[in-house]
Amino acid sequence: MSTARLEYNGQSWELPVVEGTEKELGIDISELRAKTGMITLDEGYGNTGSCQSAITYIDGDKGVLRYRGYPIEQLAEQSSFVETAWLVIYGKLPNEAERARFSALLTKHAMIHESMRNHFQGFPNNAPPMAILSAMINALGCFSPEVLGNEDESNFEESAARLLSQVRSIAAATYKMHIGQPMMYPRPDFKYAENFMHMMFSVPNGRITPDPDVARALNQFLILHADHEQNCSTSTVRMVASSGANMFASCAAGVSALWGPLHGGANMAVIQMLEEIRKGDLSPAAYMEKVKDKNSGLKLMGFGHRVYRNFDPRSRILQKAADIILAKLKIDDPLLDIARHLEEVALKDSYFIDRKLYPNVDFYSGIILRAIGIPLDMFTVMFAIGRMPGWIANYKEIHDAPRLKINRPRQIYTGATKRDYVPREERG
Ligand code: SDX
Repeated sequence: MSTARLEYNGQSWELPVVEGTEKELGIDISELRAKTGMITLDEGYGNTGSCQSAITYIDGDKGVLRYRGYPIEQLAEQSSFVETAWLVIYGKLPNEAERARFSALLTKHAMIHESMRNHFQGFPNNAPPMAILSAMINALGCFSPEVLGNEDESNFEESAARLLSQVRSIAAATYKMHIGQPMMYPRPDFKYAENFMHMMFSVPNGRITPDPDVARALNQFLILHADHEQNCSTSTVRMVASSGANMFASCAAGVSALWGPLHGGANMAVIQMLEEIRKGDLSPAAYMEKVKDKNSGLKLMGFGHRVYRNFDPRSRILQKAADIILAKLKIDDPLLDIARHLEEVALKDSYFIDRKLYPNVDFYSGIILRAIGIPLDMFTVMFAIGRMPGWIANYKEIHDAPRLKINRPRQIYTGATKRDYVPREERG
């Protein structure tokens, strides 16, 4: 094993270097504090590996993204979301028996428990869908107490299928409640994406027939969001799972982390930004100038990434998918033209080039969601549906480990040094 040497204050220590299957190197500091009395500090964890994982590989410089070794471009083109979900969770492409079994479990668990349906009435109609989703995923655990925290080999697959199927049903039910329409029951003859479209847009006296092109675009969208190594929400799921909390509680925490505008909330913010430009409030060029002015506090939403320093491969696939679905649905969305123009301007502007800022997964995804009729406030919910397999897979990886090790980072304290209590009558 190779080592890295640390020298400080006349002492030196050899620290083991870990090499991954893609030749990534990491200095193993698990014994650092015991050996040196020191810890490392890395605000935002930009340089810190929290775990070794076999699920997703990203090469940020080369724009590479693979789920369990399979390039995202091939999965987006040839796979389905359900098959990709199984791959991400179990580490291999399912054979026919595995695929059929998982599909049957998804169908079995597509319906929301009747008592749980009443929970929706408890929310105000204008409640943020991500708040409802996080709450209802936690509530889901209450309706299947037999699996709360007891996921083992025998029932893990059923729990995973329940969560993956219900996240879609809960999302659609949230939308129906929001617009005052009755919640639709799933159809056993529909596949995952088609059933979602049915539960979103059918009404009791008017069932839709999902457009195959829309279902394909939705499958691609979901595949491209299925996992992304240790992003903020996935790391949150692992943090919660490491305490021994159950899968539903861990993934509900992931929903909360994803909600933020710097993370999954960016897909909504991109459309709001494009709309603002379209309304003429600001020309693309003027908007870009404001973004570059630090005092504006404005960011080019959908741009930049902690890991991708060249391009986000998902953005390229989503841009093509947006072209295809808009053409097939004969939609001329001015926001796509504005998005393209912003990208063109940014890729020639030293501010963005110097900071290695390129379109990320959120820059074009909203255009597709708009085209297939998903309302803006459901965009981040769509991201959560797509990311569910990755959260479940990371939860499983934590629980499959030989021993459950709670995540507990350290800190450097910068507060007041020791001082004595001051009685109230002596305070200023
Ligand atoms: C996702 O981690 C993942 O994998 C996430 C994700 C996934 O699949 O899970 O890929 C999904 O969250 C994609 C990101 C969606 N968020 C956005 O599109 C919001 C806009 N982007 C930024 O907020 C930002 O780029 C982040 C949050 C994505 C990344 O932030 P970093 O890595 O912490 O970078 P930084 O904030 O330190 O920025 C470095 C510099 C700064 O300028 P200086 O102080 O050096 O002068 O770049 C600037 C930033 O101001 N900058 C931007 C910018 N992003 C960074 N300037 C303008 N517009 C932007 N979008």
